[in-house]
Amino acid sequence: MQFLFHIDVLAARLREPETLDGLWAACKAGTVSGWILSSVVSSLSERLSADSNGASLRPALQQAIACLSISPVTAKELRDGLGAPEGMETALAVACARALNLDGVVTLDPKPFKDAGVPAFNPKQAEALLKSGKPADSAPLLDVGASYPKIMEAVESSMAPVVRSGKFILGAPVENLEEAVARYCDSKFAVGVSSGTDALLISLMAAGIKPGDEVITTPYTFFATAGSIVRAGARPVFVDIDPVTFNIDPARIEEKLTANTRALMPVHLYGQSADMEPIQDLARKNNLIVIEDAAQAIGSACNGKKAGGMGDFGCFSFFPTKNLGGFGDGGMVTVQSEENWDRLKVLRNHGSQPKYFHKTVGGNFRLDALQAAVVLAKLPFLDGWIESRRQNAALYNKLFSDAGLNNRVHTPKEIFAPHTYNQFVIRVGDHRDALRKYLQERQVATEIYYPLSMHMQECFSELGYREGDFPEAEKAAKETIALPVYPELTEQQIEYVVDGVRRFFEISA
Ligand SMILES: Cc1ncc(COP(=O)(O)O)c(C=O)c1O
Repeated sequence: MQFLFHIDVLAARLREPETLDGLWAACKAGTVSGWILSSVVSSLSERLSADSNGASLRPALQQAIACLSISPVTAKELRDGLGAPEGMETALAVACARALNLDGVVTLDPKPFKDAGVPAFNPKQAEALLKSGKPADSAPLLDVGASYPKIMEAVESSMAPVVRSGKFILGAPVENLEEAVARYCDSKFAVGVSSGTDALLISLMAAGIKPGDEVITTPYTFFATAGSIVRAGARPVFVDIDPVTFNIDPARIEEKLTANTRALMPVHLYGQSADMEPIQDLARKNNLIVIEDAAQAIGSACNGKKAGGMGDFGCFSFFPTKNLGGFGDGGMVTVQSEENWDRLKVLRNHGSQPKYFHKTVGGNFRLDALQAAVVLAKLPFLDGWIESRRQNAALYNKLFSDAGLNNRVHTPKEIFAPHTYNQFVIRVGDHRDALRKYLQERQVATEIYYPLSMHMQECFSELGYREGDFPEAEKAAKETIALPVYPELTEQQIEYVVDGVRRFFEISA
């Protein structure tokens, strides 16, 4: 839970250090995120200066503040607060609690907050709430904003120098992110680009893929995978998926190789790596380039090798819903050879080398410095988020099993660890659409990734595929549904989702 501590409880804590002991212990332990307004720090300091005991109380103030996060007050909030009828401090507390989507304000006197639209609790009420836990009556598929309070300091202090510098395209933040992502993905080099889609396209261009070439990939993926192959002028050749992992089935690739095959593009769907060893063996034997679509899988691995660090090119997306998302579009290509690294850097800037001289036609595939600053600040949190997603997946598995639903609900199997659960996709047979509707009525959001395989897309009709060509992909498109799994999802919400699924099968049995 997350509370804003109003100035009155902090002042009381200084006078009587045992005030709020329970909440403070929870803040220190990290089970509660406690916040104060930045304006409160100077106010309290002023009060201490005016107090004859002030100097002796100062260390206690510093200690108390050290386990809290500090929320800055914007100029506009200060101005609005000055004119607020209920008092500036209350108005600012309300603005902050709203902006950060906190669970409430902890204050000695909740009365002034009565009609403010933000819950306010005295310390005893807040402690009681903490013990009982917040009951769940809904579960969004994803709450991107939920992680923000925890990362706010890191992100805003990373963005501020960029904003102040006025240098917004490429530059040091992008280079720093490239180095950090390359290290994280056990890769030699990385190149920041404008999106995951562009990461795929620029990799195909750098690999020299051209009209007439064939690129083997999965039909069960996000559109960008096949779309980028077509945009590079090549032909996507689909291979059916393994029904357990939902990833390309390596055993079916060889029969699709022709004299025109130039590259293999496996996708690590939902956060689980494709079965890369046989894919790389095939590539070595047949002199093919491997481009990993790791857009959903930063941090995933296959037999100890990191996603993006196995093929010639690894393509990542920083779309906000990804496990490492920016505040807009962004992407990265990891590479192992210096030659590919150089090619990518030239191609991302219209093939310009030196400036205004073009030996090849590239594009504007540049990553913004601000996006790089955001993603760089978030990277140290990534492993913790992945761990929370994995714990949520483990809880789903346990609860579905406890509810006796193992025959009806097939949860993801972790064949290649770690599965980083960008999506938690279950298979429920032909009940899928009815279950989705039922959960929606209970305010549980779900999604279908993806309802139509690539070989059935209208824009690819010229490729000549037909219904029935890839039965596993087609079956998965009809039987699967993604449940919420984001890191900040509470235990109560997961119980609520599983209870919804249990009730649905009770009714439809
Ligand atoms: C498998 C896959 N490939 C490629 C992409 C494209 O990434 P972006 O949205 O950053 O262009 C996505 C994004 O959803 C994806 O899931």
